[in-house]
Amino acid sequence: MGRFFLTTPIYYVNDAPHVGHAYTTVNADALARWHRLAGDEVFFMTGTDEHGAKVAESAAEHGTEPKSWADRTAARFEAAWRGLDISYDDFIRTSEPRHYRAVQTFLQRVYDNGYIEKGLYQGLYCVRCEDYYTEEELVDGNCPNHGTPVSFMEEENYFFKLDQFTDRLLAWYETEPEAVRPASKRNEALGFIRGGLRPISITRTSLRWGVPVPWDDGHVFYVWYDALINYLTAIGYGTDDERCAAWWPNVHHLIGKEILRFHCVWWPAMCMAAGIDPPANIFVHGWLLFGGEKLSKTMLQRLRRSAEEVKLTDVAPDVLTDDFGVDPIRYHLLRVPLGNDSDFSYDSIVARYNADLANNLGNLAARVATVVGSKCGGTGPAPDPASPLAAVAAETVAEATAAWEGFAPHEALAATWRLIGAANALLESTEPWKMSPGPELDGVLGSALEVLRIVAVLVSPAMPASARELWRRIGLPGAPEDLGVPDDAAWGGYPGGLPVEKGDPLFPRRRG
Ligand code: ME8
Ligand code: MG
Repeated sequence: MGRFFLTTPIYYVNDAPHVGHAYTTVNADALARWHRLAGDEVFFMTGTDEHGAKVAESAAEHGTEPKSWADRTAARFEAAWRGLDISYDDFIRTSEPRHYRAVQTFLQRVYDNGYIEKGLYQGLYCVRCEDYYTEEELVDGNCPNHGTPVSFMEEENYFFKLDQFTDRLLAWYETEPEAVRPASKRNEALGFIRGGLRPISITRTSLRWGVPVPWDDGHVFYVWYDALINYLTAIGYGTDDERCAAWWPNVHHLIGKEILRFHCVWWPAMCMAAGIDPPANIFVHGWLLFGGEKLSKTMLQRLRRSAEEVKLTDVAPDVLTDDFGVDPIRYHLLRVPLGNDSDFSYDSIVARYNADLANNLGNLAARVATVVGSKCGGTGPAPDPASPLAAVAAETVAEATAAWEGFAPHEALAATWRLIGAANALLESTEPWKMSPGPELDGVLGSALEVLRIVAVLVSPAMPASARELWRRIGLPGAPEDLGVPDDAAWGGYPGGLPVEKGDPLFPRRRG
């Protein structure tokens, strides 16, 4: 038991939340819920990144001021996360006064420590990335990320002396080989560092929408230089040193691969420059992609757009949750491995829903309740202490625990579904619906109910509402998330003698 501080990227408010944002946020939420179940003290934060040229331009396009545009879009993110049952402890907005204070304190320290100097910035910039590029990095003269033109920028700016941190960064990567995961992403970050670091322009005079530089009135900070500091703002950096010191060593940043350089090169160096430890854990995941940008007809109909227009970033999370329900979409997003890029399609959601939720979990719950109804008068018996499922359950709990600890929700759920499969197989081989009442029947049904109890606990981080409903239907008081793992997931916790309710299918089968 310890502290677990978990962060998502803070999302830009230039546009609405989409399924890519939901992917990171749902995975973070499930990880946070798991750690609470495991008895850790958890602080889970998300929020919005509101400054910079991209947001200012978007506001102007909509004929409004950056702050009111940010207010509107930040509210859409909060609503999206409510809709997905996200249990964050803090939602930070970078336009908040607490963030201005933290940024100014942090960067003033970096300045006082001698790592910031004035210079002339000349170079190429992509506003959509809010990032700089060299000529060599461009693809056909365009931004390598967006394929759109970059602009030439020339300004007198303050620079952060990133180049002075090459050796310290390499030493940090050497002594903390697990800090950046997976290893392929660690190597990518090391590649950037070994490739040579240059001072970075961190202020703007051409823009007013940003955090003012405390030592020079005419400047605001460059958006990334304020954004990264949000993680410290939320734990009281500069105002509550004790709180900050308690949480910071336990930080886990979950990010998408395109912002690796900011988090794994710039951010550790900024921390060093301000005199604090670099972030202890950064987990980098890949992208969800529509295979070849192609979408199924069904999805297109639901989106009512033409194929050429639709990108993954056009799909709002509530389009999916209205269609499938909140927990099935959470489940789907969690089964996509947190690692390399993965295909995302409407058909794969339907297929996984039917296979895992309707046929496997839903069917187990329905079968058990039916037979308990017909053979035991609706009262669930106690499990068989010697059931072959006991060993499978113990193994599942161990595997799921290791997987959640290792930032692999997809593996944790795969392990849980092996236990569900084993219980379904036991029912098929023993056929309790054909047995006469007696200890053997009670043992089989009680053991299946015990599997459902353990499964409810193990899936509660992924599908909190469905887990609570399953819990209620097998007659248990309270809620699965009030328990603790691994102790409360040990075999034998279902007491028997409880009313079991069949109810409507938990996950009705879908046609498409
Ligand atoms: O980068 N697949 O914000 P952003 C998977 N404000 N994840 C995706 C995704 C996809 N197709 N699309 C987006 C920013 N994401 C900065 C961050 S942090 C100090 C500042 C997720 O709105 C993924 O987590 O562009 C990615 O890193 C993030 O959204 C980018 O969100
Ligand atoms: Mg982006």
